[in-house]
Amino acid sequence: MHVSLAQASALLKSGEVVAIPTETVYGLAADASNDSALRKIFTTKQRPADHPLIVHIGNINQVYAWASEFPETAMQLAKTFWPGPLTLVLPALDHVSRVLRGNEPTVALRVPNHPTTLALLELSGLSVAAPSANLFTQLSPTTAAHVEAGLGVHVPVLDGGACTVGIESTIVSVTADGNWQLLRPGMISEEQIAHATGKPQVVVDKTSHNILDKQTPKVPGQHLLHYSPRTPVALFNHRADLMHACEAIQHINQTCAALLIGAGDTPTCKVIQLSEKPEEVAEALYRSLHVLDALQVNQLLIELPPNTLAWTAVRDRLTRAGGSAVESLRSHDVSK
Ligand code: TXA
Ligand code: MG
Repeated sequence: MHVSLAQASALLKSGEVVAIPTETVYGLAADASNDSALRKIFTTKQRPADHPLIVHIGNINQVYAWASEFPETAMQLAKTFWPGPLTLVLPALDHVSRVLRGNEPTVALRVPNHPTTLALLELSGLSVAAPSANLFTQLSPTTAAHVEAGLGVHVPVLDGGACTVGIESTIVSVTADGNWQLLRPGMISEEQIAHATGKPQVVVDKTSHNILDKQTPKVPGQHLLHYSPRTPVALFNHRADLMHACEAIQHINQTCAALLIGAGDTPTCKVIQLSEKPEEVAEALYRSLHVLDALQVNQLLIELPPNTLAWTAVRDRLTRAGGSAVESLRSHDVSK
């Protein structure tokens, strides 16, 4: 159900959820200071309660309303990349809802780069918590139509067009000592973060039992089976192996469809062929997977881009989309 900016603002202020556009993916928003509104996000998404939510704020000054520390490193990142696809995980002020932060001592914050949502934050005077506006573990939405297809037409959606970045924000945790760590790759790369902060990331050993590691950031909600189409997925590092798999599937009278990265030979099934540019592939990624998923074939065949830094975020999402298909990867793609 499409709603206007004024309706979206009124709904949020009365404690309801509204799907909102951002430059990354659509988010399912609720007033970040209202626990009963926040609970509606979890029930609508069928999301486990221990998965913390990202708070979307209108400007950098609002960090102080949520975080107990805003170290120089984090300030530099915010100044460099906001508004934009970067989420900062910072130590939380005591008043920040436990529902919002899934009982973590930290809070995740970002200023989204979308004029409609920035206008909504301004008009409502709220900060809004918003995870991606899809059912738990399913494909993230990059259009209002995706939101309605996934969550149902009764969910209010503020339509802001198709998302231009196309995959979820980069998440960086910054501890009070100013060290930073990448928690989720995105289109802002680790290199860009190191450059903006002037220092490399300090990876905290999650298996460490050292009690001095109290500041260890956790990465809740990073399930392997995330961002998944309903159709079983097989991943391939080499086009030739994908083409063989297509032949084998068709040989036993089953159906498949393929997502290809870059030019070259194509298999004899329905194909979406994306470019060789990481930004363009990211922008088209979920849209393409939604289209292929809707074909209801027996198997989706996905070509992975090269294992290089520029492709880290796209490879992360595709590997997770194929989380259910590690076996088929092994059986079809044995050449490595
Ligand atoms: O681009 C995005 O980040 C989108 C748009 C809507 O802004 N949002 C998004 O939210 O991807 P979601 O819920 O799908 O992913 C948020 C992730 C959680 O799964 C969790 O890993 C991390 O953010 N997160 C949130 N709060 C955290 C915290 N306090 N500590 C560590 N990780 C946190
Ligand atoms: Mg999500």
